[in-house]
Amino acid sequence: MSDSMEISRVVVIGFGTMGTGIAQIFAQTGFEVVAVDLSEDILRKGIEIIISGPFGLKRLLEKGKITESQMQEILSRIKTTTNLIEAARSADFAIEAVFEDLEVKKRVFKELDAHAPRHAILASNTSTLSITALAAVTNRPDKVIGMHFFNPPQVMKLVEIVRGLQTSDETVELAKKLAEKLGKVPVLCKDVPGFIANRIGIIAILEAIRLYEQGVASARDIDTAMKLGYNWPMGPLELADFIGLDILLNISEILYKETGNLAYHPPTILRRLVTAGYLGRKTNRGFYTY
Ligand SMILES: NC(=O)c1ccc[n+]([C@@H]2O[C@H](COP(=O)([O-])OP(=O)(O)OC[C@H]3O[C@@H](n4cnc5c(N)ncnc54)[C@H](O)[C@@H]3O)[C@@H](O)[C@H]2O)c1
Repeated sequence: MSDSMEISRVVVIGFGTMGTGIAQIFAQTGFEVVAVDLSEDILRKGIEIIISGPFGLKRLLEKGKITESQMQEILSRIKTTTNLIEAARSADFAIEAVFEDLEVKKRVFKELDAHAPRHAILASNTSTLSITALAAVTNRPDKVIGMHFFNPPQVMKLVEIVRGLQTSDETVELAKKLAEKLGKVPVLCKDVPGFIANRIGIIAILEAIRLYEQGVASARDIDTAMKLGYNWPMGPLELADFIGLDILLNISEILYKETGNLAYHPPTILRRLVTAGYLGRKTNRGFYTY
C-alpha cells in the first residue's frame, strides 16, 4: 500500500475524547470506520458525542455545513465493536487512542499486529510515549507511526507525524497524505519525548503556573499577558484547565523523567489541585471556577 487513497477501512481503538473525534473526521472524509472500546456503554456514549457533542455532527448540521442526509451517511460509515481482533482483520489503517499507558498500548499493538492484514499501517495518537517502543512489539516496525492529533481533533489543524527509528519513508509519506486528506496540516518529527508542540508548550504552561504559585500575578493577568502579548488564543492557565490538570501533570512528569530538564518539573500547586480533584474544566474547577 503506497498511497492514502488506497486506504478505505480504518480502525480506531479507544473511543474516548480523542478516539471519537478522530473517528468522526475519518468518517466525514469518506472512510469506513470501525471504533473499538472496552464496553458497549462506552461505544454508545461515543456515538452520542459524535452526534450531539460540542464539535459533533448536529452542530455541523445547524451551521449548514452538512445536510441531514450527509449526517446519516457519515454515521452509517461508523461501526462499533468491543472485538479488537475482529475489527483488526479488515483494517487498512489502525490508529489507537487508548489510555496513555505503555503496557496497555503495547498489548493493543501486539493484537493489531497479529490480526491486521500485512499491508495495514498501525498508528498511535500517543502524546508522550515512544513510537519506537510500540513498533518494537510488532513484526512490522516499518509500518508503525505516530499520528498525534490535538484536542479537539475535529477543529485542531495540526497533526504531528512521528517517525520511529524503524518507520519507513513510505509509511511517513502515507501518513502525511492521510493527514492532508483529513484536512489537517502534518508536521514531521523524530521520536523524542513531547514531540514538537508539547515539548515547547508544556514549558510555557508550567512557567505560567509557577508565576501564579509565586503570587507574581493573578491567573487572569497571566492569561491576559499571553493572549495580548503573544497572541495566544487562550491563556496558559485557561489552556491548562482545558487540557485537564491530571493530564498536564502526567505529561510533565513523563517529560521531566525522560529529559531531566527541570523546566518540566511539576509545580506543587499543580499536584495539590489534582489531589483535591480540581482537574480543570471537566470538574468545573481548576485555576478558574466554571
Ligand atoms: N485528551 C487530549 O487532549 C489528548 C491530545 C492528544 C493526544 N492524546 C492521547 O490520546 C490518547 C487517548 O486520550 P483520551 O484523552 O482520548 O483518553 P480517554 O480516557 O478519553 O479515552 C481512552 C479510551 O480508551 C479506552 N481503552 C482503554 N484501554 C483500551 C483497550 N485495551 N482497548 C480498547 N479501548 C481501550 C477507554 O475505555 C477510553 O474510552 C492518549 O494516548 C493521549 O495521550 C490526548
